[in-house]
Amino acid sequence: MENILEAADYLRGIIGDFAPEFGIILGTGLGDFADNIDKRCTIEYKDIPHFPVSTVEGHKGCLIFGTIAGRRVVAMQGRFHYYEGYTMQQVTFPVRVMAQLGIAYLFVSNASGGVNTSFRVGDLMVITDHVNLLPNPLIGPNMAKFGPRFPDMHNCYDKSIIALATSIAEQHNIKLQYGVYVGTTGPSFETQAEYRYFKAIGGDAVGMSTVPEVIVARHMSVPVFGMSVITNCGLSDEIGDHEDVQRQGKKAGQRMATLFIELIKQLE
Ligand code: HPA
Repeated sequence: MENILEAADYLRGIIGDFAPEFGIILGTGLGDFADNIDKRCTIEYKDIPHFPVSTVEGHKGCLIFGTIAGRRVVAMQGRFHYYEGYTMQQVTFPVRVMAQLGIAYLFVSNASGGVNTSFRVGDLMVITDHVNLLPNPLIGPNMAKFGPRFPDMHNCYDKSIIALATSIAEQHNIKLQYGVYVGTTGPSFETQAEYRYFKAIGGDAVGMSTVPEVIVARHMSVPVFGMSVITNCGLSDEIGDHEDVQRQGKKAGQRMATLFIELIKQLE
């Protein structure tokens, strides 16, 4: 708790009264979204007290404060994954800090594997719900100042934001898929048997992030919008590697950017 407040205080010392309305987490290969931000300041994770530091290739480690269409945003270029060896508290630390800075919405994005056999590589999936197969980040003493011991996870992915995204996508001719994101530890990709298992339990996509951040955001009642870029399809015979994941992420990232920007313009 003290660490969260200290990190937030440090950032406030730099940004002054520039309180971000939107927090955005940029997933693997999606860091270029930051080019859309009219930047005010960029702060490296390593300079922020108590912030973990990102280790994955293709993940930059900084917080970017600025505006999009005049709205104040803070974007995380690079996130923390459980498979890197961080605790779940470290993985979700930045979300706590962004909430402390006053964000009214959290947008999360990721690269993920398609479980749903009607999905194609490069599809965008609106996350409508999740299945958590990672340790729960709320395990441990509850920080009652942030939220309840047993937070409700209905409407985890805000239905009104999803409806708005749907109408924006129609206007901009962007094809959207909708589905359930299964969050796993990684770092190994899934076997075919595991892919079949994820399908059987109701999953449409699988990835190694997002769920912890969303649980923590919902613990604090921050509305969430989540989007997966499908970078490989696990039940087909194509095999993706990390480079593939990054390449596919980039292309679909441009469509995702349009959607995020329009949402930012239109959300009250
Ligand atoms: N599985 C888990 N995480 C992923 C995948 C996958 O197939 N693709 C991109 N991230």
